[in-house]
Amino acid sequence: MLLHIVASPKGERSASRSLADRFIATWREQNPDEEIDTLALFEEDLPRFEAEHAFRKFAPIFGEEVSSEAEDAWRIVTDAVARLDRADRILLSCPMWNYSIPWALKLYLDIIVQPRVTFGYKADEMRHVGLLRNRPMQMILTRSSTMAGDYVDFQLPYLKHIFETIGIRDIRALVVPATTQPGAEAREAYVRSFDIQADDAARAF
Ligand SMILES: Cc1cc2nc3c(=O)[nH]c(=O)nc-3n(C[C@H](O)[C@H](O)[C@H](O)COP(=O)(O)O)c2cc1C
Repeated sequence: MLLHIVASPKGERSASRSLADRFIATWREQNPDEEIDTLALFEEDLPRFEAEHAFRKFAPIFGEEVSSEAEDAWRIVTDAVARLDRADRILLSCPMWNYSIPWALKLYLDIIVQPRVTFGYKADEMRHVGLLRNRPMQMILTRSSTMAGDYVDFQLPYLKHIFETIGIRDIRALVVPATTQPGAEAREAYVRSFDIQADDAARAF
C-alpha cells in the first residue's frame, strides 16, 4: 500500500500535488494493483492536538495513571499511527510555508510523533531511536525563492529529521524551487519540466 500525504491545500492548482500525481501515474505502470491511500491533510479536518494530548504524551514516562477519558482522547494518535504504519511506501507532497511546512502537516506530525509509540529514547547514548519499520519515502517539495541547501531551508532538513526520528530512514527528495513564475502557462511549463525527475524517482521507488 502506498500512502500519499498531501500537505498543500491547493488541490488541482498545487504544484507539489501535480508532480506527485505524475509520480503516482508512472509508479502505477509497474504497480497496477497496489492500493493507494490519499491522506489530504487540509481536507481531512484532523483533530487538534490539545492539552489533554500533551499530558497523555508524557504520562507513561512520568509514571502517571491514565484516565479512560485521556485514553479515549489518545485514539487520535493510535488511529493516525495505524494508518501510517499500514503503508509499505510513503509519498509526501508538500510546499514550503514560511521557510518550513504548512500547519496542517505540523499538526499531523504532532499527532504521530510520540514516545514509546513511534520513537524511543536511548538514555545511555542520549538519542532518539525510531520504532516504525524503515520503508521507502519519497518527498516532493516545492518552494518559491528558498533554494535547497539555503541555511533558512527548514523544510527538507526538518522533514528528513522528523521522519528519521520515527524510523523512516529511506528518504528520497525531489526539491522544486522557483515555482513562482509569472504567467499561468509559464508556471505550468516550469513545473512540468520536473516531470522527468518525478518519473525517474517513481521508477526507482
Ligand atoms: C503561506 C505561504 C508561505 C510561503 N512561504 C514560502 C517561503 O518561506 N519560502 C519560499 O520559497 N516559498 C514560500 N511560499 C511559496 C510556496 O512554497 C510555493 O508557491 C509552492 O510552490 C507552493 O506549492 P503548492 O502549489 O504545492 O502549494 C509560501 C506560500 C504560501 C502560501
